[in-house]
Amino acid sequence: MAAAEKPPSADAPRDAQGAPALHVAIVMDGNGRWAKQRGLPRSLGHRAGVEALKRTVSAASKLGIGSLTVFGFSTENWSRPAAEVAELMALPKRYFETDLARLHREGVRVRVIGRREGLSGELLKLIDDAHARTKDNTAFNLNIAFNYGGQADIVDAARRFAEDVAAGRRAPSDLDEALFAGLLATSGAPPPDLIVRPSGEQRLSNFLLWEAAYAELVFQDVLWPDYGEEHLRAALAEFAARDRRYGAIVADDVLAAG
Ligand code: IPE
Ligand code: MG
Repeated sequence: MAAAEKPPSADAPRDAQGAPALHVAIVMDGNGRWAKQRGLPRSLGHRAGVEALKRTVSAASKLGIGSLTVFGFSTENWSRPAAEVAELMALPKRYFETDLARLHREGVRVRVIGRREGLSGELLKLIDDAHARTKDNTAFNLNIAFNYGGQADIVDAARRFAEDVAAGRRAPSDLDEALFAGLLATSGAPPPDLIVRPSGEQRLSNFLLWEAAYAELVFQDVLWPDYGEEHLRAALAEFAARDRRYGAIVADDVLAAG
């Protein structure tokens, strides 16, 4: 088995019936507009966004969600002004310093997914420490996409497979969807059931492109720093009303088709 290939995680959180618990992914968006509305610098919008993340993680675990994946910094965000990039780079430290010990006590497994290149040695150490400290926790999965881009992740996976082929460890015919999924940053985790984007924008913006194949999408008109339990509840209510068919047809249609 190639090093990067992992089977789906057997220890993913499960609901009371033993089924894998829900995986919700959120594009945290609207920090800048929230700050602007208040005449504040964008940096304060990002700090308020960290508070919203804390509220939302607590709400998610309270509402029975098993995994939460949030988009914190995209590979495209490097094009923002240097001062704003520096502020965004400082957020994981701010978050881990105040919250990692509590998350660990509460059984949260924290994983940061994304490219390591470009991140400072200090940040990489923080990330590695958070992984090492929480890796055996099973109550809740918190995945933070940081320096992440869906296309970049697919390219990285393709490159890794090509390297395995060039080295004789793999044949091109080995490649299928399951093997490819195992090469992505989200390897081992179930795909998201629901992707939520607040702030009124209705696009994925390069988030979880492969993994979004059958995700339900919910867009909400609230800026991320204002996000909390009531908004997550509303998103879950909308999700619960959807009819997920995964490309099949519903039983009634099968009967009607005779
Ligand atoms: C989300 O808020 C934070 C990141 C993308 C890093 P924005 O900074 O995108 O806020 P808006 O879209 O300008 O309001
Ligand atoms: Mg934005």
